[in-house]
Amino acid sequence: MRKPQPLVEIVGTGRYLPDCVLTNDDLAKRVETSDEWIHTRTGIRERRIAPEGVNAADMGAAAAQRAMECAQVDPGEIDVIILSTATPDRWLPSTACDTQALLGCTNAFAFDVMAACTGFLYALNVAEGYLMAGRGEVALVVATEKMSSITDWSDRKTCVLFGDGAGAVVLRKSNGSGRGILSSHLRSDGNLADLLYRPGGGCTEPVSQALLDNGRHLIRMEGREIFKNAVRSMAEACDVALQQAGLTADDVDLLIPHQANVRIIEATAKYAGIDMERVYVNVDRYGNMSSASVPVGLDEAVEKSLIGPESNVLTVAFGAGLTWGAMALRW
Ligand code: UT7
Repeated sequence: MRKPQPLVEIVGTGRYLPDCVLTNDDLAKRVETSDEWIHTRTGIRERRIAPEGVNAADMGAAAAQRAMECAQVDPGEIDVIILSTATPDRWLPSTACDTQALLGCTNAFAFDVMAACTGFLYALNVAEGYLMAGRGEVALVVATEKMSSITDWSDRKTCVLFGDGAGAVVLRKSNGSGRGILSSHLRSDGNLADLLYRPGGGCTEPVSQALLDNGRHLIRMEGREIFKNAVRSMAEACDVALQQAGLTADDVDLLIPHQANVRIIEATAKYAGIDMERVYVNVDRYGNMSSASVPVGLDEAVEKSLIGPESNVLTVAFGAGLTWGAMALRW
């Protein structure tokens, strides 16, 4: 198969993690759980929690600032900001616009993408299409999640899983170097929406005292069903994205998967034929940061020199919607 010529490349990465660490032992003081259960079942040891007053736009802007510095791009050069979040600061306007204001990207237009944990890949895909269409030169993609704000802290089945954080990348049209996005495979299945959702707070069930009393504005999840779907979907997405990129599993230098559960990551990697030495894992330190997981992993991997010039990187994610997808990149 002919290898695709990348047209758009990532030229800068950044991340922001709040300082406050919440350990499994801390959680065991709130709900009936233990470090042993959480670590054995999920791989998580601790997660970060954003304090009051630090919200999705603040974290997104901090990550974006670093990505822009890394890319040596001024705020005024950004043509579009595409922001993924499941935890918008407010329902109106978009968190992308609030982030734009914090960054001073006055020449950009900005909008949110909502695809839960897969949101970074969706946003990256939209940004790639925008640049490929010749509509702009520089795009900023941000994924920022304050999951602690929609977590039911009395539900041990979900509250042990999530954490807060943000990641960002700057994209440019490729200069023919061969670096950039090689392939992209995105899917969704709305029939399975109720496996992972927040039932209330939207227009079908507007905010009311009863809704708040019953916690219907908080996350609910059928963990086992999500687990099965996640492994199957992510393994399939890896295969398709690699095939479209003209690569095999052996060509992958680093797989950066969504970080929900280390058992899901291990099973996905096994099905995809990629040994764990070539898989990036930070779920132990941050838990599940929804769409921020992949760009935070990407930025850490760059910083640790786990990927460098010519590396083949595979990213894959899965989340509410259900949504899932994978993208192959040449670094
Ligand atoms: O971001 C994408 C979306 N999210 C995911 O991908 C998460 C997918 N799901 C998972 O990661 C796993 O299903 C969980 C980590 C959520 C749960 O692990 P599991 O191995 O599927 O456990 P389970 O739900 O089958 O529960 C096993 C037992 C139950 O007790 P019984 O019924 O066997 O007596 C639960 O009540 O573990 C109990 N349990 C807990 N015990 C201690 C559930 N949560 C906890 C807890 N501490 N935090």
